[in-house]
Amino acid sequence: MMFGHCRRASTLHGTFVLGLCGLLLAGCSGAGDGGDAAALKDKYVTVNLGVRGPVDLPADAVGNLQTFSPQQIYAGKKLFESNCQNCHVGGTTTPNPKVSLALAKLQGATPSRDNIQSLVQYMRLPMSYDGTEETFNCRKSDWIKDDEVQNLAAFILRASQKARGWGTARLEANQDSMTTAPP
Ligand code: HEC
Repeated sequence: MMFGHCRRASTLHGTFVLGLCGLLLAGCSGAGDGGDAAALKDKYVTVNLGVRGPVDLPADAVGNLQTFSPQQIYAGKKLFESNCQNCHVGGTTTPNPKVSLALAKLQGATPSRDNIQSLVQYMRLPMSYDGTEETFNCRKSDWIKDDEVQNLAAFILRASQKARGWGTARLEANQDSMTTAPP
């Protein structure tokens, strides 16, 4: 009965092939919803960032909004973990604690780094806090594609808006469920 859908397979081999197809299809249908399933299992995404469906974030300095899916925020989180977390654990900046990733700090930079466009610009060409000279600290994202850089920016923005203790010394609140479990 369990193999009801395989009824027409006359040999063991056929059953195996059909079974394999079923597995592949099951795998695909997970991605068919935009891949949000994995994101919605990540507690940091759903609880700390409060992302359970699409979220709107400031796209630019003139008030446009850009919508990100849970999957995109989750992808940004993973990029952050592998490229930025060493120096920016929980949104702090270990080598220069005065320039953390807290929202007030992002807003206070010249130009403000509190929207997707300006954060992407920063990651492509990091500048000092007053915007006068290039810095080389965060220059890891050269190789990252545009949509991925946007996901990374979206993760940082959402964390700066929602994650308790983000960019402050109160790391515990951030780090509890930060690290993505291996699949
Ligand atoms: C080697 C350590 C290091 C790594 C890795 C690093 N950063 Fe930074 N980041 C810094 C330092 C130091 C600053 C402080 C500002 C400065 O020196 O210009 C900074 C500043 C920033 C700022 C500006 C914060 C503000 O308040 O204006 C952002 C945004 C940022 N980093 C994002 C990132 C992202 C995204 C990554 C990963 C792609 C990353 N950084 C990787 C060291 C690092």
